[in-house]
Amino acid sequence: MRYEQLGRTGIRISKIGLGTWQFGASYWGWGRELGEEDAISIIREAVDLGINFIDTAEIYGWGRSERIVGRALQSIDREEVVIATKVFPYRVTVSGVLKALRNSLRRLNTGYVDLYQIHWPSPIFPLKGAMRALERELEEGRIRAIGVSNFSLKQMEEARNYLQRHDLASNQIEYNLLKRDPERDLIPHCRREGITIIAYSPLAQGLLTGKYGPGRMPKGIQRRLNIWHLYGRIDWSVVERLKELAARKRGGTSPAQLALAWVIREEGVVAIPGAKSLEQLRSNAKAAEIELSEEELSLLEGRGQG
Ligand SMILES: NC(=O)c1ccc[n+]([C@@H]2O[C@H](COP(=O)([O-])OP(=O)(O)OC[C@H]3O[C@@H](n4cnc5c(N)ncnc54)[C@H](OP(=O)(O)O)[C@@H]3O)[C@@H](O)[C@H]2O)c1
Repeated sequence: MRYEQLGRTGIRISKIGLGTWQFGASYWGWGRELGEEDAISIIREAVDLGINFIDTAEIYGWGRSERIVGRALQSIDREEVVIATKVFPYRVTVSGVLKALRNSLRRLNTGYVDLYQIHWPSPIFPLKGAMRALERELEEGRIRAIGVSNFSLKQMEEARNYLQRHDLASNQIEYNLLKRDPERDLIPHCRREGITIIAYSPLAQGLLTGKYGPGRMPKGIQRRLNIWHLYGRIDWSVVERLKELAARKRGGTSPAQLALAWVIREEGVVAIPGAKSLEQLRSNAKAAEIELSEEELSLLEGRGQG
């Protein structure tokens, strides 16, 4: 596994983390395709593989994901893992955020959260009070770092301005080979400012694994609708290029591993793929070892093609 610093915090996180939206959400086939014992073994195995960064949120499975992470933590050295969770924007008031944090701590069965993130910018509540309240929580030791998620550059800078004595550690955003617009301004800016980009949906919710195609879409109407909403007309040529390189590259790699290796290719960006089985998890962890040459990057990005 490879590691890097979370923002300028001195907290060391693995380049490949573990996303846990899958744990407790019917969207991902919870209770049909995987259950609590599977989730617990995935978390334990992740830590054994050197994945020390686990991302959850109060909203995932309405608290179930956090409870599962909390259960897994009972048999893991707490200091060995970096736990990130998120507050949903309908609560981003001073009292709302403090209450949400305490509830998350209880479900996670821990005295502190390593990274506490505002899940989405709120269209209703002004951010200032919540950011300052989080800063106090940080100083009192209930959180170790403050992050945002789905914030544009402008929204992120606004959030930063409200912090008086600390800086934002990260912005968690959707970033993958089918969603590259953050490269335009957000990623270069964050790199300059020492703010970590946490890439969610690094496999484009499974689309980049090579197992789906125009006539073979993921199960579940909700997932299909969301994919349609997020990706519109999917550019399947990206998946073809991943397959082509996977077949060509020595050492045996899969399209999914190449898609992840591409996301984490530079410093300042880590990825948090979700996994529904030990097999998926092990494959994803290995992506941290893959090096991509300039020519391979060029192929994956479709550069030089008309
Ligand atoms: N901040 C936010 O707003 C936000 C939004 C979304 C997600 N997230 C976070 O980011 C994490 C990851 O994003 P995501 O879950 O949306 O998408 P993702 O990581 O791109 O895709 C995960 C899905 O891909 C499939 N998969 C994973 N590894 C695979 C492998 N090696 N081979 C084949 N298939 C594989 C699995 O689904 P199937 O087997 O069913 O295909 C898995 O559930 C989430 O768990 C969550 O923690 C955050």
